[in-house]
Amino acid sequence: MRYFTVTLIFVSVLFLTAWSANAAEKDPCAPRVPAGELAQFKGMKPPVPETPETIQKGKEIYNGKGTCFNCHGPDGKGTGPLAGSLDPSPRNFTNPKFDQCKTAGEMFWAVKNGIPNTGMIGAVATGLISEQEAWQAVLYERSLGKK
Ligand code: HEC
Repeated sequence: MRYFTVTLIFVSVLFLTAWSANAAEKDPCAPRVPAGELAQFKGMKPPVPETPETIQKGKEIYNGKGTCFNCHGPDGKGTGPLAGSLDPSPRNFTNPKFDQCKTAGEMFWAVKNGIPNTGMIGAVATGLISEQEAWQAVLYERSLGKK
């Protein structure tokens, strides 16, 4: 009986640890844009100026109607309230490596269309935000890796 209880506690702890731990982030540098569109989006320049005003607008979208903070977290570390239920886990925008390996255009593609088979939403495709607001949110996200 004692062995049974010990085993039960052990299994419960294992289960709870696995359940509460955040899933790993999938390689942030691997392209998400389909091969045929990669060159086009990689080279795309933001149509909005990279100014403090744009970044402030992007922050409002990120924490407001874009709902980005729910997954990516208010601090952009990828640990928002919904992150625990997502596999792969949301992108950590404070990772400076990410800004170096992905262009703003590639990020825009993800915000526009979403990333298939992940929690990443197509915020523009679903009408949540406009293309301009998506660019603003992308520039805000990129500013987080520069601090
Ligand atoms: C429901 C959860 C969820 C919401 C809401 C969400 N994301 Fe994501 N996002 C993810 C996940 C999960 C990934 C990682 C997918 C992967 O690794 O392929 C991701 C990845 C990304 C990426 C990385 C793309 C790349 O090429 O690596 C960008 C940029 C991004 N999100 C921007 C946003 C913006 C902007 C918003 C708000 C408009 C937003 N996300 C809202 C879950 C979310």
